[in-house]
Amino acid sequence: MTATGKLGGRVALVTGALRGIGLACAERFIAEDAAVILTDRDRPDDPLVQATLERLGPTASYLKLDVTLEEDWAAAQEAVATRLGRLDILVNNAGTDMVGPVDTLSLADWRRLMSINVDGVFLGVRTFTGLLAEGGKTTPAGSSIVNVSSIMGLVGYAETSAYNASKGAVRLFTKAVAIEFAQARKPIRVNSVHPGFVRTPLLDAGMQRWANEGKAESAQALIDALDQATPIGRIARPEEIAAAIFFLASDDASYITGSELVVDGGWTAQ
Ligand SMILES: NC(=O)c1ccc[n+]([C@@H]2O[C@H](COP(=O)([O-])OP(=O)(O)OC[C@H]3O[C@@H](n4cnc5c(N)ncnc54)[C@H](O)[C@@H]3O)[C@@H](O)[C@H]2O)c1
Repeated sequence: MTATGKLGGRVALVTGALRGIGLACAERFIAEDAAVILTDRDRPDDPLVQATLERLGPTASYLKLDVTLEEDWAAAQEAVATRLGRLDILVNNAGTDMVGPVDTLSLADWRRLMSINVDGVFLGVRTFTGLLAEGGKTTPAGSSIVNVSSIMGLVGYAETSAYNASKGAVRLFTKAVAIEFAQARKPIRVNSVHPGFVRTPLLDAGMQRWANEGKAESAQALIDALDQATPIGRIARPEEIAAAIFFLASDDASYITGSELVVDGGWTAQ
């Protein structure tokens, strides 16, 4: 069968791909005819992994990859090189949040957040630069790395200082690497995406936590408030972030590197 999607013949790896934005991204890439390696912390024999692979079909595969672990990245590199022989798209999506007044945060929690949100992105880029540079020589717009930051990487917010710091780091790491690769004529474009509030398990858990702490009458009340505070009138669906990531991964973004794509329903335009 001839491929009709915009990513036919391409191989993509997405971190944190079993839920939320990462899953939506994997689904979009598959719809565009890419072969997608979903990765996450869950074991390969977990029922969720099995059900997801069954639903996504034969162009999806799964690797256990905790983004904080160098050995997991090395094993993933080995598996991608042997099984698929190339990589065109890397989405560093895995991430977590942390809330609380700055003077209540523990150093251990701060480091845990940084290890996922920042070390994880660094390790992903470092591990796959070689394979992406090879793949990039064979496609019109080169390979593409998309790092998922946040509007919290652009503006500050009360009681999310650690998360702000981690996402700000992802933003500038992205630009530095983009310049480094461009100047070295490595055919890899590197960009960041900055979602506003998105309805995912991460957001739901955060809202539930705040409600449990008595900051609102219910998680739904907090989500309603976020809908109202967003200029466009609602928070995002994961597919809407995946669409932006897909664009940056595609040949349509051939001249885009080192940029930050804000997908926030107007939140930071206020
Ligand atoms: N949901 C939002 O409102 C929002 C807004 C802006 C940015 N983001 C960012 O988008 C990304 C995805 O968030 P989401 O809302 O889809 O979250 P989610 O919690 O719904 O999904 C994240 C996935 O990452 C995985 N993960 C967590 N730690 C990991 C690790 N150490 N190694 C590998 N996988 C790991 C989780 O298992 C999960 O499957 C994150 O980087 C997040 O910071 C989310």
